[in-house]
Amino acid sequence: MRNTDGTHYGTGTLEQRVLEDPGKFRVLTGDRPTGRLHLGHYFGTLQNRVRLQELGVETFVLIADYQVLTDRDVAHHLSENVENLVLDYLAVGLDPARSTIFAHSAIPALNQLLLPFLSLVSVAELGRNPTVKDEIVHSRQAAVSGLMFTYPVHQAADILFCKSNLVPAGQDQLPHVELTRTIARRFNTRYGRAGDVFPEPEALLSAAPLLLGTDGGKMSKSRGNAIALADGVDETARLVRGAKTDSIRYISYDPAARPEVSSLLLLAALCQNRDPHEVAEEIGQGGSGALKKVVTEAVNEHLAPIRARRADYAKDRGYLRSVLQRGNERANTIAEATLKEVRGAMGTSY
Ligand code: TRP
Repeated sequence: MRNTDGTHYGTGTLEQRVLEDPGKFRVLTGDRPTGRLHLGHYFGTLQNRVRLQELGVETFVLIADYQVLTDRDVAHHLSENVENLVLDYLAVGLDPARSTIFAHSAIPALNQLLLPFLSLVSVAELGRNPTVKDEIVHSRQAAVSGLMFTYPVHQAADILFCKSNLVPAGQDQLPHVELTRTIARRFNTRYGRAGDVFPEPEALLSAAPLLLGTDGGKMSKSRGNAIALADGVDETARLVRGAKTDSIRYISYDPAARPEVSSLLLLAALCQNRDPHEVAEEIGQGGSGALKKVVTEAVNEHLAPIRARRADYAKDRGYLRSVLQRGNERANTIAEATLKEVRGAMGTSY
């Protein structure tokens, strides 16, 4: 199914093409290291990344440390957050032997790609990006930095340096993927005399519907309404107990009319690999007390092996560092090769 802007949804043609020939695809995706990953990330993207890895799609996972500075002056606890991301990745099943985990700041060639890429987009185009506009509204800075407007171009370098053609991402990343396609196309047209240098990557949207935070708003680290993968059993129970519901005793799955109750049902259903309607029927007149009990148990049971693996990996910080170092090395080798090709195409190899 092709969207009007050229991207693809998580079902239909693109998904089928990936299943038919996973070897043809190279995934790049990533996260900002601003804290620990939560259930929204897990069901929204992490599970899908692991699935693609298991299908045999070559996978790159980027820790986007430079992007942390888009809406704040200082990136606090950066090394701790980076370590937590690596832990979350390993805990959910990303395998460093098959997936390259690396960090922005360790790849100088990304910055070298940024300048020619910037020359290919207009200031007006950068200003129109809806995700950037939204981030400016929620920014913690008094003034909007140049990085806020230009980071999507740097993100295009993230995606194109390894010639990724598949970007599993949430809805909010679609403008960035679209910009990446534009940059790839314009670069190829302007400099690709000897053939295309870059592929036009496609976005793969997650099939999982959106989970709400415990306050009924968007689940987000900064809003304190998220259940982190690393949260303990009791913390999970506490968070679910405090979750917003409604005043109707009978539990039913109706996302439009009852968003908070439905999101809790969805969470339990995702954890148990069941249909949310079925979970609702079982609870019936039990009310939100019974619902929360079911959700707490479902989450804790589903996350138990992930949390156990996370705790195990957390004991060996040397190993975590080595995973990142090896990922950085591999990403750098690929980035250098692409940069060489770009220099050749632009006539700047002296
Ligand atoms: N912008 C993404 C986020 O905020 C992180 C990111 C950086 C990314 N580079 C990427 C995602 C490349 C997909 C592809 O979560």
